[in-house]
Amino acid sequence: MDRFVIRGGVPLAGTVSVSGSKNSMLALMAASLLSEEPVLLQNAARVHDVSTMIRILGALGVEAVWEADDVLRLGGSEPTATEAPYDLVRTMRASFMVLGPLLARCGHARVSLPGGCAIGARPVDQHLKGLEALGAKVELVGGYVEARASRLRGAPVVFDTSTVNGTQNVLMAACLAEGQTRIQNAALEPEVGELIGVLQAMGARIEGAGTDQLTVEGVTRLKGATHRVAGDRIEAGTLLAAAAITGGDVTVTGLCLDQLASVVEKLREIGLELDTRPDRVRVRRTGPLRGVRVTTARFPGFPTDMQAQIMALLCLAPGSSVLTETIFENRFMHVSELQRMGADITVNGRTAIIQGVAGLSGAPVMATDLRASASLLLAGLAARGDTHVMRVYHIDRGYDRIEQKLASLGARIRRIRD
Ligand code: EPZ
Repeated sequence: MDRFVIRGGVPLAGTVSVSGSKNSMLALMAASLLSEEPVLLQNAARVHDVSTMIRILGALGVEAVWEADDVLRLGGSEPTATEAPYDLVRTMRASFMVLGPLLARCGHARVSLPGGCAIGARPVDQHLKGLEALGAKVELVGGYVEARASRLRGAPVVFDTSTVNGTQNVLMAACLAEGQTRIQNAALEPEVGELIGVLQAMGARIEGAGTDQLTVEGVTRLKGATHRVAGDRIEAGTLLAAAAITGGDVTVTGLCLDQLASVVEKLREIGLELDTRPDRVRVRRTGPLRGVRVTTARFPGFPTDMQAQIMALLCLAPGSSVLTETIFENRFMHVSELQRMGADITVNGRTAIIQGVAGLSGAPVMATDLRASASLLLAGLAARGDTHVMRVYHIDRGYDRIEQKLASLGARIRRIRD
């Protein structure tokens, strides 16, 4: 296992570009199962979760080839299998998104139930509810979901709770169903909108992008497509937070400002100075930080995937901050590690009270999940002395060469292979 060794205290400075969105890519890779023609993704990020999805597609007999450092060519063949194995699905729950496309394309799919993860139970009941509404026969056998449907039929689907991957899973299936599907309470996250755009480029007939009501007129087949993946909004937010916590002056490019409005506003409220353009944000610390209230929410609210990172920053904001996590039930795994670095945080259920401290001190810390690890990286960049972040495979799941990006901004960070 690798670790990062960070010697903190350097204000980051310079310009850095984000990679393509991990979460968009995972849905788009699943969508490639819907067509016998290839799907080409440009600005594709080389993160571990993408490698896992490549292995899942491989297990289904669908090829995925890197044609350049950031160009991934997918599919263009008939799946030769319709089972996504447990040993792969359990390492990355987003694999569950192959269920809808496989079912729609092949009439059958057997996908392992993803099970919980570090941040919560993460049920998939809404995914299954939507697919059953489209006429699928769904059974749970030996920890696997077995779904069958000779031809899916369009139908009304109303999600009890907003779900990003649930919306994407059912939407992809609906594209090849017979007749009209109306999805209500659809997720509004940008990754849903990006998937809709690519599905439309593939020939799908979808109305309502950007709203929580999607109407799909099923078609019999879909074409291939070429798509440039949007910049990763969470990586962008993480890099902005890195500049903020070190008191630096950094411009992050390759992002989509509309996808970051809540993060930009919160950083301003904390006391950072931000200059914004549609595809870039410059952040500087020109005065003291201030404690604030943060409550995670569905898009366009403050994203849960930025909660751990903003907490690290608030550890150094004078006064009190109140941070409430409303999406996942166990997404404070970073708190105990931040406390070991001198942070003053009290957790009460889904709310954390943070008292700003004068400084953090470097320590050996353990990464537990993707965004908690990012939080520890940020704390290490600001801490006095050395921080060793262990188990950085968590970070590699969702950040493409993050230590190179941070080092290019002046950070003293190196990867050590344990
Ligand atoms: C997506 O996960 C993202 N992952 C997550 O990013 C992100 O945190 C999450 O959306 C919320 O924005 C990918 O896109 C690959 P949800 P998803 O279903 O779709 C409940 C990261 O760090 N729920 O929108 O799985 C569930 O209990 C990852 O990049 C049901 O109850 O999240 C949980 O509380 C982490 N039944 C909440 O919704 C269901 O059938 C999760 O929201 C589905 C979800």
